[in-house]
Amino acid sequence: MRTILITGATSGLGLEMARIFRQQGERLILVGRRPLDTLTDPLFTADVYCQADLSLPDSHRTIHQWLTERGVNQIDLLIHNAGIGWVGPVADQTPAEIAEMVQVNLKAPVAITHTLFKQLELASGKIVFVSSVVSQLPLHKYAVYVATKAALDGFARSLAVETSGRIAVQVLHPGAANTAMHAKVGTDEAVYRKYPSAESVAADMVRAMGRRKRHIAIGATNKLMRSVSLGLPLIFEKAMRQKAAESDQAAVKPHTVVTGGADGIGAAVARRFAAAGHTVTILDVDAELGQAVTASIGANASFIQVDLSDLDSVQDAVQQLARWSQVSTLVNNAGISAAGKFEQLPLEQMLKVIDINLTGALVLTTTLMRQDRLANQHQQVYLSSLSKYVGYPGAAVYAASKDGLAAFAKTMQAAAVANSRVTTVFPGPTRTAHARRYSPDNSREDKRMSPEAVAEAIYEGAMGKRRLVFPGAGAKVFAIFGRLLPRTAERAMKKTIYDKL
Ligand SMILES: NC(=O)c1ccc[n+]([C@@H]2O[C@H](COP(=O)([O-])OP(=O)(O)OC[C@H]3O[C@@H](n4cnc5c(N)ncnc54)[C@H](OP(=O)(O)O)[C@@H]3O)[C@@H](O)[C@H]2O)c1
Repeated sequence: MRTILITGATSGLGLEMARIFRQQGERLILVGRRPLDTLTDPLFTADVYCQADLSLPDSHRTIHQWLTERGVNQIDLLIHNAGIGWVGPVADQTPAEIAEMVQVNLKAPVAITHTLFKQLELASGKIVFVSSVVSQLPLHKYAVYVATKAALDGFARSLAVETSGRIAVQVLHPGAANTAMHAKVGTDEAVYRKYPSAESVAADMVRAMGRRKRHIAIGATNKLMRSVSLGLPLIFEKAMRQKAAESDQAAVKPHTVVTGGADGIGAAVARRFAAAGHTVTILDVDAELGQAVTASIGANASFIQVDLSDLDSVQDAVQQLARWSQVSTLVNNAGISAAGKFEQLPLEQMLKVIDINLTGALVLTTTLMRQDRLANQHQQVYLSSLSKYVGYPGAAVYAASKDGLAAFAKTMQAAAVANSRVTTVFPGPTRTAHARRYSPDNSREDKRMSPEAVAEAIYEGAMGKRRLVFPGAGAKVFAIFGRLLPRTAERAMKKTIYDKL
């Protein structure tokens, strides 16, 4: 008899999976946010049900305490199934709603995995992430949802390399299923009634968990859709791109906003755009460095202090930006990392990576859109990472944030109106303080690309309206290597990075 913990077990796929596992005689731990006395199904009893609201930042501690009180010290299967959806124009999703979605769909799975790592390791257990077939699709009406699911894919890709031989990691990609999720986001019942039943999708998911394959799309159509979305992404991007409304707006004086512009690639980007005649605004938490870079650029540069992990600070920065013309280029560059073995890194440090790299960028971009601060013909630039193509053991949460950002960029590309475009950048190792801080050893620092060369590639890519930019030949080769031979690339990364930590 295995011990199986399922989050989001009170409804839909989670509930149906619980019913199947109960029939198979497994020991269940069911997590949900509702009070036990409101749950009518006989599955839910005091020794099985753990009430924990995953939208709260300490829910992983609640679960841990519940398990400790009952002496549960091994978990064979941890299924991260709880999730919330949201449908509509991306600019309508408020910062609080974005933060809640990132918390439930991404931060809670990271935190619960971290907290229960020992119990999983003791059982030589397995972690299953319930992602979605949409994680690789540019569906702009679900842009933040897509970003959270893509981030789970990225987290799993890197975590699996770290835990191989100790804990198995799998990601399931169901497609649309007839569950309460659709009613919760306001979808018409006539639409979701036609989707496959939760029972049948859950049965397929339980069967898939018996396999070793890392990513499994559930159902034949979803398998095909996932293969095409990965192999021929442009087909979906073209099909889903909103009809471009012709713009008669006169071109405004170019105004580039760079987050994390106080140092490294961001500072080089700010200098490059300023040299091309753009008004530049640097957004950074480091006022001293930010003001120094701004002063060195000259009169056409300004600085706004912002803490991207603080929703109010982002709102405040957007208010301050109203002093200048609309933004013609937004470079979402700011990012931190947390390098080390996943189970040994402080959780708070890793969650901060998600707050700054992902939530901060999403909230800033959508707030600028909502407040009409982006010029009609603008360019959005997102700094992702090569970890999207090759697992990054030793920085699994960083990789999650960067996969999420790349997926969000793809949905923004599909949503872009008029002549607006989106560029996603995948830099390789760059000679910055960031790389120095997070690398296991800096013996090959001179081999890293200079921030100025990366900034040049970003400038050329953004001005040339290119979708994807791989600065330097090495980055492109590495991305192709990761796509064609993922396991070999992962082994190489494990040897060169993880084993040296
Ligand atoms: N249905 C689909 O078409 C579809 C397609 C692809 C992927 N998925 C994914 O499949 C998973 C299950 O979704 P579903 O369709 O079964 O949806 P669902 O019926 O809405 O079930 C979601 C579960 O997550 C729980 N949950 C939501 N917020 C929570 C919170 N803050 N704390 C604790 N639990 C919380 C819900 O609790 P309540 O019962 O209290 O609301 C419910 O038990 C999700 O990750 C979803 O993204 C679904």
